[in-house]
Amino acid sequence: MPTIREVASRAGVSPTTVSHVINNTRFVSADARQRVLDAMAELNYRPNVLARSLRRGETRTLGLILPDSANPFFAEIARAIEDSAFRNGYNVILGNSENELTKEQVYVDVLVNKQVDGLIFVATGDHSPSLEQLVRDGLPVVVVDRRLTGLDVDTVLTDNLQGGLTATRYLLDLGHRRIACITGPSNLTPSAERVIGYRQALQERSLPVDESLIRKGDFHPHSGYLTVSQLLHSAPRPTAFFICNDMMAIGALRALAEAGLQVSQDCSLVGYDDIELASYVTPPLTTIRQDKNAMADAAVQLLLERIADPGLPARTRILPIRLVERQSTRRIA
Ligand code: RIB
Repeated sequence: MPTIREVASRAGVSPTTVSHVINNTRFVSADARQRVLDAMAELNYRPNVLARSLRRGETRTLGLILPDSANPFFAEIARAIEDSAFRNGYNVILGNSENELTKEQVYVDVLVNKQVDGLIFVATGDHSPSLEQLVRDGLPVVVVDRRLTGLDVDTVLTDNLQGGLTATRYLLDLGHRRIACITGPSNLTPSAERVIGYRQALQERSLPVDESLIRKGDFHPHSGYLTVSQLLHSAPRPTAFFICNDMMAIGALRALAEAGLQVSQDCSLVGYDDIELASYVTPPLTTIRQDKNAMADAAVQLLLERIADPGLPARTRILPIRLVERQSTRRIA
């Protein structure tokens, strides 16, 4: 399926001009209009009717698709996006894909049919066929938190590799050497990049990476509980845990308590996200903070700019992380 950019290139105009010819939303000279129409015919380009109606729509409504609205990280992101959109005169319709591609597809269709002016999207994995088609058809989209491979689309991320590096360097500086890592789903770029950071921190100090200390979680509390319980039966047990999100770290707290271990006296724990709960569990979690308000503001800003000018080149924003030190960690040497 030819793209709007290919039509623009063949006609010698910008993608914005092609969009205005298709939607008749602005004057275009007869010559340029004809060149666009000729290019569309030669390439057999057929604009998606629904995507086209979106561009005419101006419903002042944005779509938001999240993979797990029960996870506080996403609940806080959703609240921040809704707040930022509302301040800019837009409403938000939320769809929860439950980490399922089929349900993600349903919500993409539902939101397109509701003629949202644009879509903010957190993927269930590292690709999304339904979204890829919409982007190619010119729907304004911003991808947040997880990269989508092979798609030229506005994207807002945080520096996940730096997050894993910072957390592990911090634990090494506290004197820990047997540091376990509980990962998130391996098909998600945030988790994969955090684990790369964990490995890099050990390697830069010429310390071995013990693969038995790296266990797969799924970003839910129970996987943190299970994996840490299993690790406590390995000898010698880890003295510290880097856990790739706060929800699994909260599950880990229960496993450590059931094993009779005091956090931070007997072992240290670093989580990831800095959800509001992180500072209210016992002990309050040391964690890597992802600034959810900054992510939301960046996503809404990129989307509104894209709605105003569909021909903009795709942009990527990578926001910084920072370590938030609380009471779940302690120096041991
Ligand atoms: O807690 C949910 C996790 O999934 C977060 O770390 C966020 O980055 C997302 O990828």
